[in-house]
Amino acid sequence: MMDMRKSTSTSFLIMPLSEAYADDFCRMVREYLPGNAWEEVLTNRKYFPNATLMLLRDGVLRGCAFGRASKRPGEFVLDGIAVESQLWRNGYGSKLLAQFEKAANAYGFHKVSLGSAGGFVEKFYIHNGYRPICHKVYRDGKICLAREFADFADYASYLRPEEEGFVVMEKELLNIS
Ligand SMILES: CC(C)(COP(=O)(O)OP(=O)(O)OC[C@H]1O[C@@H](n2cnc3c(N)ncnc32)[C@H](O)[C@@H]1OP(=O)(O)O)[C@@H](O)C(=O)NCCC(=O)NCCS
Repeated sequence: MMDMRKSTSTSFLIMPLSEAYADDFCRMVREYLPGNAWEEVLTNRKYFPNATLMLLRDGVLRGCAFGRASKRPGEFVLDGIAVESQLWRNGYGSKLLAQFEKAANAYGFHKVSLGSAGGFVEKFYIHNGYRPICHKVYRDGKICLAREFADFADYASYLRPEEEGFVVMEKELLNIS
């Protein structure tokens, strides 16, 4: 029997954000990625238009990914990625991420880094080849390092403090074509 969960036979397209979809993209950022300021998304798009991506399914915007150059040379930051919740677990997020990495690589970056939302989102990035580097927490209005991970086992066995925080992850890009 066909696995419907994995069916992506409906036509979809991943491409740089175009003006016609700017309002839909903005709505999606506000709904799924509220920590990101829309104005910053637009500013970064000016410099890296091919890394400000939308996923269209039958002509309707269903996913987005965007980022910017890090202060660290050679590193590109994924600021946000989202797929509409009705379409989760169909591989669209991974396809968007792969296209984002390709664009970052084409701009000359050799690494993508990100601060992951908690829970299953970390599994999403690990599934896509990202390595957990450290856990950071918000303490007295500042971002503080809570733990640097020695390796994956260390990350997996780590008991997180009560404070809100995020895991920093990285992936080396090996000249994707
Ligand atoms: C994170 C997100 C983009 C993933 O999109 P998606 O299209 O569902 O991702 P994929 O289908 O490509 O998932 C690939 C793999 O990631 C892991 N994964 C994804 N969602 C998962 C979940 N809910 N539980 C466990 N693992 C999950 C699985 O290993 C999955 O492979 P599988 O389905 O074969 O088991 C989507 O959940 C989302 O938009 N979340 C809300 C926004 C958000 O939090 N963005 C990240 C900000 S840092």
